[in-house]
Amino acid sequence: MRNNREHEIREAVNKFEELLRTQIDRNENMKKLPDETKGCKIIGICDGDGIGPIITDSARRVLDVLLEGEDIEINEIKGFNIENRLETGETVPENILAEIKKCDVLLKGPTTTPSAESGTTNLESANVYLRKSLDLFANVRPVLIPEKGIDWTFFRENTEGEYALGSQGVEIKDSLAFDFKVTTQEGTKRLAKLAFEYAKANGKKKVAIVTKANIMKKTDGNFLNICKEVGKDYPEICVDSWYVDIMAANLINDDINKEFQVFILPNLYGDIITDEAAQLQGGVGTAGSANIGNGFAMFEAIHGSAPRMVEDGLTDYANPSSILRAVAMMLKHIGYSSKAILLEHALDGVVEAGINVTGLPDGNKCEEITEYILEKIK
Ligand code: IPM
Ligand code: MG
Repeated sequence: MRNNREHEIREAVNKFEELLRTQIDRNENMKKLPDETKGCKIIGICDGDGIGPIITDSARRVLDVLLEGEDIEINEIKGFNIENRLETGETVPENILAEIKKCDVLLKGPTTTPSAESGTTNLESANVYLRKSLDLFANVRPVLIPEKGIDWTFFRENTEGEYALGSQGVEIKDSLAFDFKVTTQEGTKRLAKLAFEYAKANGKKKVAIVTKANIMKKTDGNFLNICKEVGKDYPEICVDSWYVDIMAANLINDDINKEFQVFILPNLYGDIITDEAAQLQGGVGTAGSANIGNGFAMFEAIHGSAPRMVEDGLTDYANPSSILRAVAMMLKHIGYSSKAILLEHALDGVVEAGINVTGLPDGNKCEEITEYILEKIK
């Protein structure tokens, strides 16, 4: 028994050494990354699981109208679904990843992540895998609530924090489990730079850095210091730092929430805070999400595949707004800003037009909102 425990400890220490070295190498490699900029010729689309196919079909129809006559190819990549992933045992099957890499940007439908408790193979999240393997380091999530004067843009770190080694924790049987959280110098710098550049280019005057640096002194402490350091290059921008718990409260405090503009957050806090923000905007079905890297970007809905909706026979009532917001972000990213704005205006007018997609039979269907948008962007 004692020998077994000693053996487990040794194995854990060896594993930690290996992880540490890999992350140090990753930080070094980031220093070498070229700033690739290339034009967009091919948009890939994957439909995913659950409500993915119905909402990506809506997105595809909208894209076909908006990009008609443009020199852009749309490549529908089939088979990126949980059935194939479980069958091949691969988080993202190799042939699918190869197809994705042939594209310049990807519009991705939600993919189901089997959890440890679900009893199926414990595959890593496809989102997380794609973000890491394509090095999509910034997760950009805008939230707009015009009637409250709220115009927020979240820059969530997308490849590090608790997610960097999320499926590589260690466990000492019947005793304890350890997970790892990673903040690298270069990984934080590049995210902060993107956020400050965005603020500067868009006339934003305030950037809030959100951490729990009072408790996570190394990882969050470094994240905060590195962001502040980058902020020194932008003297016209006012930089504030907040702890994530009070920021969660601030977002629902109508006396102050409109004061915030741009946020920079480590991965997990960004995950949680952006769901809260999206809910304030009208639900997680309403917010788009861009995963930005050097030379490749992936756009997606902020929500998951909603397996419960499918089980309850509610697929037709899925809201495509979130993925359509992602389409607008993608169009801006590839240089079609006026088409993006046309789509955003159509989406902004949905509620006023009396269309209310609640996800339930009391609301409109995906098809109805899609028809409305198609009519508006013609
Ligand atoms: C998101 C999602 C993902 C995340 C899940 C699906 C792995 O919640 O994009 O916010 O945790 O990042
Ligand atoms: Mg999330």
